[in-house]
Amino acid sequence: MSATIPDRMQAVQLEKEGGLLTVGQIPVPRPGPGEVLVRMAASPINPSDLGFLSGGFGYQRELPIVPGIEGSGRVMDAGPGWLGKFLTGKRVACTKSTNSGGTWAGYMVTKASGCIPLQKNIPLEQGAMLVVNPMTAVVFFDILKQGGHTAFVNTAAASALGRMLLRLSLKRGVPLINIVRRTDQAEILRVLGAEYILVSTDADFDQKLHDLAHRLNATLLLDAIAGEFTQQLVNAAPKKSVILVYSILSGKPAQIMPNTLWHDDKRIEGFYLATWASNHNLLKILSVAQTAQKMLGSDLQTDVHKRLPLSSIREGLDLYQKNMTAGKILLVIDSQEVSISA
Ligand SMILES: NC(=O)c1ccc[n+]([C@@H]2O[C@H](COP(=O)([O-])OP(=O)(O)OC[C@H]3O[C@@H](n4cnc5c(N)ncnc54)[C@H](OP(=O)(O)O)[C@@H]3O)[C@@H](O)[C@H]2O)c1
Repeated sequence: MSATIPDRMQAVQLEKEGGLLTVGQIPVPRPGPGEVLVRMAASPINPSDLGFLSGGFGYQRELPIVPGIEGSGRVMDAGPGWLGKFLTGKRVACTKSTNSGGTWAGYMVTKASGCIPLQKNIPLEQGAMLVVNPMTAVVFFDILKQGGHTAFVNTAAASALGRMLLRLSLKRGVPLINIVRRTDQAEILRVLGAEYILVSTDADFDQKLHDLAHRLNATLLLDAIAGEFTQQLVNAAPKKSVILVYSILSGKPAQIMPNTLWHDDKRIEGFYLATWASNHNLLKILSVAQTAQKMLGSDLQTDVHKRLPLSSIREGLDLYQKNMTAGKILLVIDSQEVSISA
């Protein structure tokens, strides 16, 4: 298989802090022990990519680097190790390894354990968006069950992940309070069947959230916003709630008065899928991936707003940041594997 691998590839690069992304030709990397070489087919732009580019999500990176955290493609070569050999030739969903180049390139070297073989019925387009959101949605439902929570709250709820959580909550009969920041986002969720939607800019939002969270006993509160919003969630939460901070969309540190946790035995925890994965064995990760794949064409499907070639990365980032709720910008890297006009 290595005979078909070229010496150079097209790649997006972040060359200096705060600098514009460039698109050019760079050498194709070679896999080392425990690694594989994936010929990339497609990759979305996610909030975590914006964090990676700005240096805001605590990612380690040495510049210049190819960004892009998740995607899909075909494993073309492997370094020493049984898993890489097993994956060679297979279509996979894949994630970037720490300190190596990412998915916005013709090829990516990553850990073999960072690849999920795709079932035959999963197109590479949806496969490119299997890991970050669908697997997180499945894990959140595990956390809900293990914590004995019977209702929950989500924030930035019109996001791709928010819509997945909503569809799963409706299917599984678990009440979900969806918090959005605009009324048009509330409408999107209403059309999907949401019963409980709160708009955080409403004057009586805090009181409404407090009352509803207590009425439904929503003791798991998923916080994608952080900043001052974390305190609002803590204030509204019933006794013994867990506030799970899983993103920093406000760009600000989560702020809380510790005494607002003590009296009612509330807790703040963090969640990051990569850390969750490093704390679980391969079998558990594959089982979550399998569950996610089964629903990838339905409850865990991601809407794509626009498909663009790698060379249009700057346009893609602009478009995405102007309207994240509209759906993902999908970078189509191999148009023979993923249609750019679909
Ligand atoms: N910790 C983990 O392992 C993990 C895993 C998966 C996802 N996540 C997080 O989950 C969140 C959703 O991801 P996604 O890919 O589903 O997002 P997405 O589809 O790209 O949508 C992002 C949503 O966040 C909203 N938003 C942006 N900034 C906001 C702010 N300051 N306050 C309130 N809402 C804001 C956007 O609304 P507008 O259109 O109004 O901007 C949009 O609805 C992200 O924060 C992501 O980092 C974390």
